[in-house]
Amino acid sequence: VQESSIRPHSLAEYIGQPQVREQMQIFIQAARQRQEALDHTLVFGPPGLGKTTLAHILAHEMGSQLKSTSGPVLEKAGDLAALLTNLHAGDVLFIDEIHRLHPAVEEVLYPAMEDYQLDIMIGEGPAARSVKLDLPPFTLVGATTRAGLLTSPLRDRFGIMQRLDFYSVPDLAAIVTRSAKLMHLEITLEGATEIARRARGTPRIANRLLRRVRDFAQVKAQGQVDADLADQALNMLHVDTCGLDMLDRRFLLALIEKFAGRPVGIDTLAAALGEERDTLEDMVEPYLMQQGFILRTPRGRCVSAHAYQHFQLPVPAHLIQS
Ligand code: ADE
Repeated sequence: VQESSIRPHSLAEYIGQPQVREQMQIFIQAARQRQEALDHTLVFGPPGLGKTTLAHILAHEMGSQLKSTSGPVLEKAGDLAALLTNLHAGDVLFIDEIHRLHPAVEEVLYPAMEDYQLDIMIGEGPAARSVKLDLPPFTLVGATTRAGLLTSPLRDRFGIMQRLDFYSVPDLAAIVTRSAKLMHLEITLEGATEIARRARGTPRIANRLLRRVRDFAQVKAQGQVDADLADQALNMLHVDTCGLDMLDRRFLLALIEKFAGRPVGIDTLAAALGEERDTLEDMVEPYLMQQGFILRTPRGRCVSAHAYQHFQLPVPAHLIQS
């Protein structure tokens, strides 16, 4: 069972993110009634929360085709022009990592989004000419880990902005239960909940852990997956009880051990861990912050008492509230 075949295809099948579902339901129905393309939509949030899945669902709900690309792949204005001129009325063009568009490519996007106009230079030197073409009405769905990474002219051209949040444990348990069913795997609610608790609020991680638990169940046990079996399998995978992975733990332990709980700038921390600053900001910090392990302050990142407790370390006096 591939990731693509367990993805939901309609808004009705999409679990969690209630405010996104409620709003998109209305915008889609309204656009369909007017027989217009859905307005351009920016979807942002940490990796693995279903930005691509949502783009597919929007196209499906609009009864249109989805064409998919990503920011770094579009090297020249002509690469984007080729995609735009192949669209049919109402199609969805999905651009993942849209914050990584080349400026020359981004320029082509402005009139395309605003007026469905393609405005592009062909050739070089004295033979260079500007070509203008009408495009069919289409919907641009852009995805990014952080809306703040977009230039403001690009951000301003999206009529709809949707932020995806980390999923609750019950929502993730429902996703795990649904995926297990599609894999013909029997799982109890407690088993699904144990996987959900340790999936960092992220469906992509929940589905990945489910596959590993299934392997464990197949070799080490028979029958259904319950909480005990899920716990054993996840312990074997070194997924800790809060779902923190190796990088999360290294991040927190660096703050605690190397920097003794003092505020640390993100670049200093990235150098200490040998990781990219962007990786930490996009993939590590959002969940640690949401769970209250770290705080972002003007002086840098700080660990909370909760982080010390998680590692069963004594909480420093300055973090103990009286
Ligand atoms: N698989 C991944 N994300 C999902 C979601 N939000 N709902 C249902 N299945 C999913």
